[in-house]
Amino acid sequence: MAVSIPSSSTLLLVFLFSFLVSLASACDRCVRTSRAAYYTSSLTLAAGSCGYGTAAASFNGGLLAAASPALYRDGVGCGACFQVRCKDKKLCGAAGARVVVTDRARTNRTDLVLSSPAFAAMARPGMAAQLAKFGAVKVEYKRVPCEYKGKNLSVRVEERSRAPNELAIRFLFQGGQTDIVAVDVAQVGSSNWKFMARDSGPAWSTSQAPPGPLQFRVVVTGGYDGKWVWAEKEVLPRRWRAGEVYDTGVQITDVAQEGCFPCDTQEWR
Ligand SMILES: *[C@@H]1O[C@H](CO)[C@@H](O)[C@H](O)[C@H]1NC(C)=O
Ligand SMILES: *[C@@H]1O[C@H](CO)[C@@H](O)[C@H](O)[C@H]1NC(C)=O
Repeated sequence: MAVSIPSSSTLLLVFLFSFLVSLASACDRCVRTSRAAYYTSSLTLAAGSCGYGTAAASFNGGLLAAASPALYRDGVGCGACFQVRCKDKKLCGAAGARVVVTDRARTNRTDLVLSSPAFAAMARPGMAAQLAKFGAVKVEYKRVPCEYKGKNLSVRVEERSRAPNELAIRFLFQGGQTDIVAVDVAQVGSSNWKFMARDSGPAWSTSQAPPGPLQFRVVVTGGYDGKWVWAEKEVLPRRWRAGEVYDTGVQITDVAQEGCFPCDTQEWR
Protein backbone atom coordinates (compact mmCIF):
# COMPACT_ATOMS: atom_id res chain seq x y z
CA MET A 1 0.00 0.00 0.00
CA ALA A 2 1.38 3.36 -0.99
CA VAL A 3 1.79 6.07 1.58
CA SER A 4 1.05 9.67 0.75
CA ILE A 5 3.95 11.99 1.49
CA PRO A 6 3.85 15.48 -0.01
CA SER A 7 6.97 15.98 -2.08
CA SER A 8 9.69 17.74 -0.16
CA SER A 9 9.93 20.49 -2.78
CA THR A 10 6.29 21.29 -2.14
CA LEU A 11 6.83 21.50 1.60
CA LEU A 12 9.85 23.71 1.07
CA LEU A 13 7.86 26.07 -1.15
CA VAL A 14 5.11 26.36 1.41
CA PHE A 15 7.64 27.01 4.14
CA LEU A 16 9.55 29.60 2.12
CA PHE A 17 6.39 31.41 1.21
CA SER A 18 5.18 31.74 4.79
CA PHE A 19 8.61 32.87 5.84
CA LEU A 20 8.87 35.59 3.19
CA VAL A 21 5.40 36.91 3.91
CA SER A 22 6.03 37.19 7.63
CA LEU A 23 9.01 39.46 6.95
CA ALA A 24 6.96 42.28 5.43
CA SER A 25 3.70 43.75 6.68
CA ALA A 26 0.98 41.60 5.18
CA CYS A 27 -1.63 43.18 2.96
CA ASP A 28 -4.11 41.86 0.44
CA ARG A 29 -4.54 45.19 -1.35
CA CYS A 30 -1.17 46.61 -2.32
CA VAL A 31 -1.75 49.59 -4.61
CA ARG A 32 0.72 50.38 -7.36
CA THR A 33 0.86 53.26 -9.78
CA SER A 34 1.88 52.88 -13.38
CA ARG A 35 0.60 53.60 -16.85
CA ALA A 36 -1.74 51.40 -18.84
CA ALA A 37 -1.96 51.17 -22.61
CA TYR A 38 -4.40 49.13 -24.67
CA TYR A 39 -4.57 46.79 -27.61
CA THR A 40 -6.79 47.75 -30.49
CA SER A 41 -7.17 44.09 -31.48
CA SER A 42 -8.87 41.70 -29.05
CA LEU A 43 -7.26 38.74 -30.82
CA THR A 44 -3.87 39.56 -29.34
CA LEU A 45 -4.95 38.93 -25.78
CA ALA A 46 -7.23 35.95 -26.40
CA ALA A 47 -4.38 34.13 -28.11
CA GLY A 48 -2.00 35.29 -25.39
CA SER A 49 0.99 33.51 -23.91
CA CYS A 50 -1.01 32.09 -20.98
CA GLY A 51 -2.34 29.59 -23.53
CA TYR A 52 -6.03 29.91 -22.71
CA GLY A 53 -6.71 30.04 -26.44
CA THR A 54 -10.14 31.00 -27.66
CA ALA A 55 -11.62 30.33 -24.19
CA ALA A 56 -9.99 33.56 -23.00
CA ALA A 57 -12.20 35.72 -25.19
CA SER A 58 -15.18 34.80 -23.00
CA PHE A 59 -13.33 35.23 -19.69
CA ASN A 60 -14.52 38.10 -17.60
CA GLY A 61 -16.61 39.66 -20.36
CA GLY A 62 -13.51 40.32 -22.45
CA LEU A 63 -11.89 42.51 -19.78
CA LEU A 64 -8.38 41.14 -20.28
CA ALA A 65 -4.85 42.35 -19.73
CA ALA A 66 -1.29 41.59 -20.73
CA ALA A 67 1.07 41.94 -17.77
CA SER A 68 4.61 43.29 -17.66
CA PRO A 69 7.37 40.78 -16.80
CA ALA A 70 7.17 41.70 -13.09
CA LEU A 71 3.45 40.90 -12.90
CA TYR A 72 3.54 38.06 -15.41
CA ARG A 73 6.16 36.25 -13.31
CA ASP A 74 7.06 33.75 -16.02
CA GLY A 75 3.42 32.74 -16.27
CA VAL A 76 2.64 32.34 -12.57
CA GLY A 77 0.68 35.60 -12.92
CA CYS A 78 -1.62 34.10 -15.57
CA GLY A 79 -5.25 34.23 -14.48
CA ALA A 80 -4.57 36.82 -11.75
CA CYS A 81 -7.19 39.57 -11.50
CA PHE A 82 -6.51 43.27 -11.06
CA GLN A 83 -8.68 46.29 -10.43
CA VAL A 84 -7.25 49.15 -12.43
CA ARG A 85 -8.43 52.74 -12.61
CA CYS A 86 -7.08 55.77 -14.42
CA LYS A 87 -6.05 58.77 -12.37
CA ASP A 88 -7.81 61.37 -14.50
CA LYS A 89 -11.00 61.94 -12.49
CA LYS A 90 -12.69 63.83 -15.33
CA LEU A 91 -12.45 60.86 -17.68
CA CYS A 92 -12.46 57.88 -15.37
CA GLY A 93 -14.69 56.39 -12.68
CA ALA A 94 -13.44 55.51 -9.20
CA ALA A 95 -14.16 51.79 -9.54
CA GLY A 96 -12.14 51.32 -12.70
CA ALA A 97 -12.15 47.94 -14.45
CA ARG A 98 -11.54 44.43 -13.17
CA VAL A 99 -9.26 42.60 -15.58
CA VAL A 100 -7.79 39.12 -15.80
CA VAL A 101 -4.26 38.45 -17.08
CA THR A 102 -4.16 36.28 -20.21
CA ASP A 103 -0.94 37.41 -21.82
CA ARG A 104 2.60 38.67 -21.30
CA ALA A 105 3.17 42.29 -22.29
CA ARG A 106 6.07 42.80 -24.68
CA THR A 107 7.01 46.00 -22.95
CA ASN A 108 8.38 47.16 -19.62
CA ARG A 109 7.01 50.69 -20.08
CA THR A 110 3.54 49.97 -18.69
CA ASP A 111 2.64 47.37 -16.06
CA LEU A 112 -0.58 46.49 -17.86
CA VAL A 113 -1.71 46.54 -21.47
CA LEU A 114 -5.50 46.26 -21.44
CA SER A 115 -7.94 44.91 -23.98
CA SER A 116 -9.86 47.77 -25.56
CA PRO A 117 -13.12 46.84 -23.71
CA ALA A 118 -11.17 46.92 -20.42
CA PHE A 119 -9.61 50.28 -21.26
CA ALA A 120 -13.07 51.64 -22.12
CA ALA A 121 -14.49 50.17 -18.89
CA MET A 122 -12.31 52.56 -16.86
CA ALA A 123 -14.11 55.55 -18.41
CA ARG A 124 -17.01 57.44 -16.90
CA PRO A 125 -20.27 57.02 -18.86
CA GLY A 126 -19.91 58.71 -22.24
CA MET A 127 -16.18 59.31 -21.85
CA ALA A 128 -14.83 56.12 -23.43
CA ALA A 129 -14.17 57.64 -26.86
CA GLN A 130 -12.30 60.53 -25.31
CA LEU A 131 -10.26 58.19 -23.10
CA ALA A 132 -9.37 56.03 -26.10
CA LYS A 133 -7.67 59.03 -27.74
CA PHE A 134 -4.92 58.70 -25.15
CA GLY A 135 -2.79 55.73 -26.10
CA ALA A 136 -1.75 55.26 -22.50
CA VAL A 137 -2.87 56.82 -19.22
CA LYS A 138 -1.67 57.03 -15.64
CA VAL A 139 -3.34 54.35 -13.54
CA GLU A 140 -3.31 52.83 -10.11
CA TYR A 141 -4.09 49.17 -9.69
CA LYS A 142 -4.26 46.40 -7.12
CA ARG A 143 -4.67 42.67 -7.24
CA VAL A 144 -8.20 41.52 -6.38
CA PRO A 145 -9.86 38.11 -6.01
CA CYS A 146 -11.07 36.58 -9.28
CA GLU A 147 -14.75 35.71 -9.41
CA TYR A 148 -15.99 33.30 -12.03
CA LYS A 149 -19.68 33.17 -11.27
CA GLY A 150 -21.00 29.61 -11.26
CA LYS A 151 -17.70 28.19 -12.51
CA ASN A 152 -15.56 25.73 -10.61
CA LEU A 153 -11.81 25.43 -11.01
CA SER A 154 -11.48 23.44 -14.23
CA VAL A 155 -8.80 21.42 -15.95
CA ARG A 156 -8.24 21.48 -19.69
CA VAL A 157 -6.38 18.43 -20.99
CA GLU A 158 -3.84 19.71 -23.46
CA GLU A 159 -3.56 18.31 -26.98
CA ARG A 160 -0.10 16.86 -26.45
CA SER A 161 -1.34 14.48 -23.74
CA ARG A 162 -1.14 10.76 -24.51
CA ALA A 163 -3.22 8.40 -22.39
CA PRO A 164 -2.52 6.87 -20.04
CA ASN A 165 0.81 8.30 -18.81
CA GLU A 166 1.53 11.55 -20.66
CA LEU A 167 -0.76 14.09 -19.05
CA ALA A 168 -0.57 17.84 -19.62
CA ILE A 169 -3.22 20.10 -18.14
CA ARG A 170 -4.05 23.78 -17.91
CA PHE A 171 -6.10 25.32 -15.11
CA LEU A 172 -9.08 27.51 -15.96
CA PHE A 173 -11.35 29.63 -13.75
CA GLN A 174 -9.00 29.86 -10.77
CA GLY A 175 -10.93 32.01 -8.32
CA GLY A 176 -9.65 33.95 -5.32
CA GLN A 177 -6.35 35.75 -5.13
CA THR A 178 -3.78 33.00 -4.95
CA ASP A 179 -1.10 31.28 -6.96
CA ILE A 180 -1.10 27.54 -7.55
CA VAL A 181 2.39 26.44 -6.47
CA ALA A 182 2.15 22.65 -6.64
CA VAL A 183 -0.08 20.05 -8.29
CA ASP A 184 -0.40 16.31 -7.60
CA VAL A 185 -2.46 13.69 -9.42
CA ALA A 186 -3.61 10.22 -8.29
CA GLN A 187 -6.05 7.57 -9.33
CA VAL A 188 -9.39 8.04 -7.57
CA GLY A 189 -9.32 6.13 -4.28
CA SER A 190 -5.52 5.85 -4.28
CA SER A 191 -3.14 7.80 -2.06
CA ASN A 192 -0.23 7.27 -4.44
CA TRP A 193 0.11 10.89 -5.50
CA LYS A 194 2.40 11.83 -8.40
CA PHE A 195 3.60 15.39 -8.59
CA MET A 196 3.20 17.38 -11.78
CA ALA A 197 5.79 19.89 -13.00
CA ARG A 198 4.91 23.40 -14.12
CA ASP A 199 5.47 23.76 -17.87
CA SER A 200 4.64 27.43 -17.96
CA GLY A 201 2.04 29.54 -16.23
CA PRO A 202 -1.18 27.61 -15.65
CA ALA A 203 0.12 24.51 -17.50
CA TRP A 204 1.37 21.46 -15.62
CA SER A 205 2.42 18.01 -16.83
CA THR A 206 3.73 14.59 -15.89
CA SER A 207 4.87 11.58 -17.90
CA GLN A 208 3.92 9.29 -15.02
CA ALA A 209 0.19 9.81 -14.75
CA PRO A 210 -1.60 6.84 -13.22
CA PRO A 211 -4.45 5.26 -15.20
CA GLY A 212 -7.78 7.10 -14.85
CA PRO A 213 -10.13 7.98 -13.30
CA LEU A 214 -7.99 10.74 -11.79
CA GLN A 215 -8.24 13.09 -8.83
CA PHE A 216 -6.09 16.15 -8.11
CA ARG A 217 -4.79 18.19 -5.21
CA VAL A 218 -3.08 21.56 -5.48
CA VAL A 219 -1.21 23.84 -3.11
CA VAL A 220 -2.26 27.48 -3.28
CA THR A 221 -0.75 30.48 -1.53
CA GLY A 222 -3.72 31.32 0.68
CA GLY A 223 -3.90 33.57 3.75
CA TYR A 224 -0.41 33.81 5.22
CA ASP A 225 0.45 30.27 4.28
CA GLY A 226 0.25 27.66 1.60
CA LYS A 227 -2.73 25.35 1.80
CA TRP A 228 -3.90 22.21 0.08
CA VAL A 229 -7.04 22.27 -2.01
CA TRP A 230 -8.38 18.78 -2.70
CA ALA A 231 -10.45 17.65 -5.67
CA GLU A 232 -10.96 14.11 -4.42
CA LYS A 233 -13.85 13.21 -6.66
CA GLU A 234 -13.33 11.90 -10.16
CA VAL A 235 -12.07 14.89 -12.14
CA LEU A 236 -10.75 13.10 -15.23
CA PRO A 237 -12.76 10.00 -16.22
CA ARG A 238 -11.13 6.65 -16.95
CA ARG A 239 -10.95 7.53 -20.63
CA TRP A 240 -10.05 11.20 -20.47
CA ARG A 241 -9.65 12.99 -23.77
CA ALA A 242 -7.24 15.66 -24.97
CA GLY A 243 -8.95 18.94 -25.76
CA GLU A 244 -11.73 18.43 -23.18
CA VAL A 245 -12.36 20.67 -20.16
CA TYR A 246 -13.19 18.90 -16.89
CA ASP A 247 -14.76 20.43 -13.77
CA THR A 248 -12.83 19.82 -10.52
CA GLY A 249 -15.91 20.45 -8.36
CA VAL A 250 -13.97 22.87 -6.15
CA GLN A 251 -13.68 26.63 -6.08
CA ILE A 252 -10.67 28.51 -4.80
CA THR A 253 -11.68 31.59 -2.82
CA ASP A 254 -8.61 32.18 -0.66
CA VAL A 255 -6.80 35.49 -0.65
CA ALA A 256 -3.04 35.46 -0.30
CA GLN A 257 -1.29 38.29 1.52
CA GLU A 258 1.47 40.36 -0.02
CA GLY A 259 3.94 42.55 1.81
CA CYS A 260 3.52 46.30 1.31
CA PHE A 261 2.97 49.61 3.05
CA PRO A 262 0.64 51.47 3.17
CA CYS A 263 -2.14 48.93 2.68
CA ASP A 264 -5.25 50.21 0.87
CA THR A 265 -8.17 48.93 2.90
CA GLN A 266 -10.76 50.88 0.89
CA GLU A 267 -13.08 49.30 -1.63
CA TRP A 268 -12.81 51.05 -4.97
CA ARG A 269 -16.36 51.91 -6.02
C1 LIG B 1 12.18 44.07 -19.19
O1 LIG B 1 13.15 44.23 -18.17
C2 LIG B 1 13.88 43.06 -17.89
C3 LIG B 1 14.80 43.33 -16.71
O2 LIG B 1 15.47 44.56 -16.85
C4 LIG B 1 14.64 42.61 -19.13
O3 LIG B 1 15.36 41.43 -18.87
C5 LIG B 1 13.65 42.36 -20.26
O4 LIG B 1 14.34 42.04 -21.45
C6 LIG B 1 12.77 43.59 -20.50
N1 LIG B 1 11.72 43.23 -21.45
C7 LIG B 1 11.34 43.99 -22.46
C8 LIG B 1 10.27 43.45 -23.33
O5 LIG B 1 11.84 45.07 -22.68
C1 LIG C 1 -19.20 22.90 -8.97
O1 LIG C 1 -18.96 21.89 -8.03
C2 LIG C 1 -20.08 21.55 -7.27
C3 LIG C 1 -19.63 20.58 -6.18
O2 LIG C 1 -18.92 19.50 -6.72
C4 LIG C 1 -21.17 20.97 -8.18
O3 LIG C 1 -22.31 20.63 -7.43
C5 LIG C 1 -21.52 22.01 -9.23
O4 LIG C 1 -22.44 21.46 -10.16
C6 LIG C 1 -20.27 22.49 -9.97
N1 LIG C 1 -20.60 23.60 -10.82
C7 LIG C 1 -20.56 23.54 -12.13
C8 LIG C 1 -20.89 24.80 -12.86
O5 LIG C 1 -20.26 22.54 -12.74
